[in-house]
Formats: sequence, structure tokens, C-alpha cells
Amino acid sequence: MTATPRYVVNDGFRMPAGFPIDGFRSGLQYRARPGDVFIATYPKCGTTWAQHIVYLILHRGDPLPAGRNMTEEIPHLEEVGKAAAERIAEPRCIKTHLPFDLTPWHPDARYLYVARNPFDCAVSFFHHTRGFVKLYDFADGTFDEFFECFLSGEIDFGDYFDNLVPWFAHQGDDNLLFLTYEQMKAAPAAAVVAMGEFLGPEPARTVHDPATLDSIIRHSSFDSMRKDPERWSSKRPDGMPAFIRKGQIGDWVNHFSREQAHRLADKFARRAEGTDLETLWPEILAAARG
Ligand code: A3P
Repeated sequence: MTATPRYVVNDGFRMPAGFPIDGFRSGLQYRARPGDVFIATYPKCGTTWAQHIVYLILHRGDPLPAGRNMTEEIPHLEEVGKAAAERIAEPRCIKTHLPFDLTPWHPDARYLYVARNPFDCAVSFFHHTRGFVKLYDFADGTFDEFFECFLSGEIDFGDYFDNLVPWFAHQGDDNLLFLTYEQMKAAPAAAVVAMGEFLGPEPARTVHDPATLDSIIRHSSFDSMRKDPERWSSKRPDGMPAFIRKGQIGDWVNHFSREQAHRLADKFARRAEGTDLETLWPEILAAARG
């Protein structure tokens, strides 16, 4: 029998089975306001890392204190719902994995979108799905089984490309900063400066202070965040730090067969038609096609 990760369908959209439907329905009704900061991603593309960088910028380089949890500071909109999002301090920073057309929009809110190549995203999502034993009922699932679900979009938050393609189409918007996980890895300082300048005059001053920039980079590094996985997500089953795992580019080669790499590259080409999407990860796509 083939194992598939569990999910629920809320009003036509695939969501984790443990997220209450009220959170989803009311979350979509949240009215974005000027000054709001949305951190939008497809799952496993660097959300937590971006959340902590935004937090660090807005707190002048001071990290999230031990004992506090990122899920309270920057809540996940379609999990906690509208009222919980309205309760957080301003500027409201909100995490979402919603596609563009479901995300609450305001021209004076800011949207930070982080994309990651789909090969590494699939591997990261596979480990995440196996780690949440009760949520997904996929503890013994194989990568081959997960890959078929990822490719067909039959997983929570749906098809990777349904998320990426419309957000990418808005990358020139004044209130949207589009970054990739790979850019953040290659040049963390440049990514932090771009985020600070995007977030407004005060955050821009923060990231242009060399000592503060250094602190932000240090505290958001993989090694630093890995030390205390409890801070980044709600309690993990079996202590598995699924949100801070390997933090590498290219781990996909350890999981994908040649045929799987070709199939995902083919889907990429189909979904990228008429766009510049392929310019985001030319080397990875070439390796996948090789
Ligand atoms: P891997 O599973 O490939 O290691 P999300 O926060 O969207 O769920 O993304 C999780 C992915 O981001 C995981 O990828 C995790 O290790 C990686 N990640 C988390 N914090 C990071 C950091 N500070 N630097 C680099 N990668 C990080």
C-alpha cells in the first residue's frame, strides 16, 4: 500500500489536518493594514529564518529571547485566525503560506516573499512531514511516496507552483520584496540589508549600523538558530527539529532519482512558461536535467 501524508481540504484549499477550520476561514478575512509586514512563503522555503531576521531587524539586533516562541511573535495567519493576528503588537508581522490571491492585501502593507528551489523544498518538506508523526500519519513514508504527492500538489498548502508563480508575478510591486533562500545563503548581509531597507526608514538605519548588522547575521545564522529549536515552532514530536534541519543548498541530490529530477524539471518548465522563473535557479535546473 502506498503511504500519503494526511491533509484536510478547507473550502477547496489543502491545509494541515491539525489546523482548525475557523483559523483558516477567519484568517482569510483579516484586513491588512498600512504598516503590516507579511512573510509569505511556500512551506520549507526559509520562513522561520526570514521571520527571525525580520524580528532581529525590528529589535535592533536582539534575538528572540529564550523561553519565547516565534509562533507568538509572528503568528501563522491561516492557523491562528483573524482575532489572534489583530492582537499582536504593531507593526504586525504575520506569517503566511497562502497563495497570492488568498493573502489579505493592502497597498501600504509590506510583503516579503522567500522562494526556494523546488528540489530542496521537496526534500525539506519530506523530512518535515515524517517528523510530525501525528499530524501527517507518514512516519514510515518514503521519499518516493512523498515525491509523487509533491509533484501532483496533493499535500498541505497545495502545489508548490500555484504558490510561487503568482507571487513571482508581483515581484516588481513597490510593497513586495522577492528573495530566494539561495540568495540569503550566498549573501546573508545583502539579504538583511535589502530587508531592512524594504521595511522602512528606521529598519534601514538599523541594518546600516555595522555592529547591529553583524548581530543580526550572527543570531540568524543556521548554527545559532539550530542551538535552540524550541524557540522557532510549536512543540515538536520526538524532539525532531524539523524547522531547523540541514540548511543546505543541494541536499536534493541525496534523495532524487534521475527520473524524479527530470519530472520535476519538466513540471518547472511547464509552469514557468512565459515567465522569467527559470532565471532564479539556472544551475540547479541544469543539474536536474543533466
Ligand atoms: P532543510 O530542511 O533543508 O534543512 P521553513 O522555516 O519554511 O519551514 O523552512 C525550513 C528550512 O529552512 C529547513 O531546511 C531549515 O533547516 C532551513 N533553515 C531554518 N533556519 C535556517 C537558517 N538560519 N539558515 C539556513 N537555513 C535555515
